[in-house]
Amino acid sequence: MATTTAEREQWGSRIGFVLAAAGSAIGLGNIWRFPYVTAENGGGAFVVVYLACILLICLPYLFAELALGRNSQKNPVGAITAIKKGTPWTLVGGLCVLTGVFILSYYGVVAGWALGYIFKAFVAPGVESSTYFASFVADPWTVIPLAALFMLITISVVYGGVEQGIERWAKVLMPILLVLMLVVIFRSVTLPGSGAGLEFYLNPDFSKIDGEVLLAALGQAFFSLSLGMGAMITYGSYLPKRENLLVSGGYVALFDTTIALMAGLMIFPALFAMGRDPGAGGPALIFEVLPEVFATMPLGSFISAVFFVLLSIAALTSMVSLLEVVVSYFVDETTWSRAKSVWLVGGFTFLMGLPSALAQGGSTYLTEGVSLFGVTGFFSIMDYIWGNVSLALGALLISIFAGWVWGTGNAMEELQQGSGDFFTGTTARIWSIFLKYICPLVIAIIFVGKVMREI
Ligand code: PFF
Repeated sequence: MATTTAEREQWGSRIGFVLAAAGSAIGLGNIWRFPYVTAENGGGAFVVVYLACILLICLPYLFAELALGRNSQKNPVGAITAIKKGTPWTLVGGLCVLTGVFILSYYGVVAGWALGYIFKAFVAPGVESSTYFASFVADPWTVIPLAALFMLITISVVYGGVEQGIERWAKVLMPILLVLMLVVIFRSVTLPGSGAGLEFYLNPDFSKIDGEVLLAALGQAFFSLSLGMGAMITYGSYLPKRENLLVSGGYVALFDTTIALMAGLMIFPALFAMGRDPGAGGPALIFEVLPEVFATMPLGSFISAVFFVLLSIAALTSMVSLLEVVVSYFVDETTWSRAKSVWLVGGFTFLMGLPSALAQGGSTYLTEGVSLFGVTGFFSIMDYIWGNVSLALGALLISIFAGWVWGTGNAMEELQQGSGDFFTGTTARIWSIFLKYICPLVIAIIFVGKVMREI
């Protein structure tokens, strides 16, 4: 029930929630994906559009997910059922849980690569070549155990429950992440020739903005903030009524955006200092190029190891939130215990990730023999369907559900609890216009644009 929260676990403190939710948002999306998408889309101009998307689309939508979660005190399926019982809208909650399972399956594989590169940095300083990455990811005896190890670490965090597990870990891990990033940034911007990288990254050339750049920026913003699959509904469900959702949500968006921008500051100055073409890296950018770049610097192998420790930490806290969405569904909606849910879901998603782990050269068929909607390779197909189409579809449907079915009045009332006079009058009205009209419309454009572009 919405008001009796005594039996549901809750975050121990605001800072605990903010750090855990920021931990969900900050992940491979910020550090691995953001730099190469920025590079491919023209640098500074992309960053400006990305920031506009965060502020105008993602932030209003994020508040709606948090409000849905806290109001229902449930997982995405339970949240929708609590508001509209026995309707097809329940399927939207189901889509969230399913998306969580599938994203988790291949996200864990990339997280395993990051884990492997921590040790790789010490083993072969200075001899890194871009072909090393290809052979590294093609070896099943490397990538599968690494993915298994990463899943076990994730399971052990989620197993501890909300306060003992996720919150305790996030409190320790997030500040470490921030400090590590500052160290790498300092290294990167003090390299000779790094100025060109700063120029590319921070000086926008607005003539580069086109439909593609716009779509890429919007998609990146959703993925990065963990929106569209109920992660923020689930995390919001552990918040007490006295909590100011707007301030907490605002902090989460601020931290996520800051870390993404910092990731760019780590990578672009170093890349330009090494005289590399930033647009040529693609998804392999950080794995192929950075260790090589770092290896030629003083303390290079150390910096490289630090960087991949940091990436693994960021991936872990995001993995935790993905697993938590699915686990909270089984804990709330079935008779399964938390322990049983964590082990079964974790084990199952690890097995489901095996084809993704083998799809980077381990199996020729999975690597280049399968294609769908013009996307080739099992791994890329999974990322396209679940990390792309499904998130956009989920966000579109949840914003319509929150704005039109639940209603902006109810959502607003939920947001007002705990926020004092902060969210009344004009501010609240402007927000409801964004939720009801602007968010669904823009998300629909992203969704249709993405599907049309890929088919
Ligand atoms: N936001 C995470 C990242 O940037 O890596 C990815 C993610 C986590 C997406 C959780 C969706 C989600 F529910």
